[in-house]
Amino acid sequence: MTADDLLARHRAVLPSWMPLYYAEPLELVSGEGRRVTDAQGRTYLDFFGGVLTNMIGYDIPEIREAVERQLRTGIVHTSTLYLIRQQVELAEKVARLSGIPDPRVFFTNSGTEANEAALLMATNHRRSHQVLAVRNSYHGRSYAAMGVTGNRGWSASPLNPLRVAWLHSGERLRGLLARLPEADRVDAAVEDLREVLATQTAGDVACLIAEPIQGVGGFVYGPDGLFAAWKKVLDEHGILLVSDEVQTGWGRTGEHFWGYQAHGVTPDLLTFAKGIGNGFAVAGVVGRADVVESVPAISFSTFGGNPVSTAAGNAVLDYLLDHDLQANAARVGAILAEGLRAAVGDLPEVAEVRGKGLMLGVEFVRPGTGEPDAALATRVFEACRAGGLLAGKGGLHGNVLRMGPPLTLTEDEAREGLAILVDAIRTAAAEAVAR
Ligand SMILES: Cc1ncc(COP(=O)(O)O)c(C=O)c1O
Repeated sequence: MTADDLLARHRAVLPSWMPLYYAEPLELVSGEGRRVTDAQGRTYLDFFGGVLTNMIGYDIPEIREAVERQLRTGIVHTSTLYLIRQQVELAEKVARLSGIPDPRVFFTNSGTEANEAALLMATNHRRSHQVLAVRNSYHGRSYAAMGVTGNRGWSASPLNPLRVAWLHSGERLRGLLARLPEADRVDAAVEDLREVLATQTAGDVACLIAEPIQGVGGFVYGPDGLFAAWKKVLDEHGILLVSDEVQTGWGRTGEHFWGYQAHGVTPDLLTFAKGIGNGFAVAGVVGRADVVESVPAISFSTFGGNPVSTAAGNAVLDYLLDHDLQANAARVGAILAEGLRAAVGDLPEVAEVRGKGLMLGVEFVRPGTGEPDAALATRVFEACRAGGLLAGKGGLHGNVLRMGPPLTLTEDEAREGLAILVDAIRTAAAEAVAR
C-alpha cells in the first residue's frame, strides 16, 4: 500500500476538521529514541514528539517492559470499581511531586477531560459557574474546555456551560499589554484582572484557569511572577487558581518541574496529560483535597487510571526522575535557544525566539510591520521536514514554529536539529525576500 492510498482512505473516512500536518502527509511507522521512520523508509529527528507527548522518546525498554508486565497479568482493564495498584502508586507519586499539600488525584484519559474535571471541582466548590480564562489559551475540545479556550481557530461551538470573562495574557509581542515595558506588564495584568472582576462578573467567581506557557497559543507567556500577582487578587475573593500543565509539566521548562513554579505560587488545582503516558492515555487533576472532594455526585471514568496506562505512567515518571530529565531539558534547551538566537534571532522575519527548556518557539513576521507571516512559518516547517526534522506549528495566527522534543534529547541531537532549523529558516526567509 502506498502512502497516497492511505491519505485517500483517510480523507474518505475521517473528518476534515481534524487536520493533517504537511502538504504531503506523513505516516510514521517506527521509532527509536528521538527518531521516527516514515512509510517510505525515511528517518527524521523528532522535535515535536506527537505534540510534546512522547516525552521520553520512542521504544524505551523500561516503559515497554512495564506495559508488557501488566499485559502478562491478563488484566488490561478492571474499571475503578476495583483497587488498581498501578493507579494508587502513580497517584502517590503525582501527589508528592505536585507541590500541593495533602492533595487528591483524579485520573482521566485526556487533557480535555482533566480540565473538564478541574472545572467541575472548582465550580462545585465555589457554587458558581463564573470562570476567568486567558486570551489565546487552549484547554481542550469539550464544551467547558472549549468554553475557556481563547482562540477562534479552536473554538468550534459557542455553547458553553460556563460564564467566562477574559484576561490579557501579559505576553511580550501581541495584545494590548505588549505595548508596555516588561517592568509594567505584571501591574497592568493585575489592573486588568481587577477591572474584569468589577465589570464582567457578578461576583463569586469560581476559578481562573491558565497555562503557564500557552501551548497551542504559540509558546507565549506573561512575565514570571504574574500568577502570584494574580493570585493575590484572587485570594481577596476566594477565587481558585487552576494551572493547566498539560504542556508545561514534568520538567519540560528546564528551570522548574511545573510551569507554575516560575511564578512563586501554588495553584489550588493542577491538570496534567500528554507526556506522563509517553503515548499511553494518562491524564488527570491533582489538587487541594477540599476542592477535589467538592464533587457532589458519583463521577466515574471507565478508562481513567487504567492498569496499563498507569503502569506506563509509573515507568515514565521513574525514568524521568532517575535520569533527571528536567536538568537535561535545561541544558539541551539552552543549546537550542542560544543557537537559534545567535543564528536567526536578528533576521527581520523573526520577531522572537522564545521559550523555556525544551519548549521553544520561533515567531515569523513580515519585516518592518510585525504582521504575522503564517506562509513563511509553513515554508520553514516544510523545509525542516525536507531536511529531516519534525517540528510543530502554532500561535493564534499560525505563524509560530514550535519545538517540543522528547526530554531525553541529547546535546548532539540538539546541534543536529539546530543546524537543520537554522538552514530552513535562513533559506525560507531569503526566498521570502526574493519573492
Ligand atoms: C494546555 C493544554 N490543555 C489541554 C489540552 C487538551 O488535551 P487533550 O488533547 O489530551 O484532550 C491540550 C492539548 O493540546 C493542551 O495543550
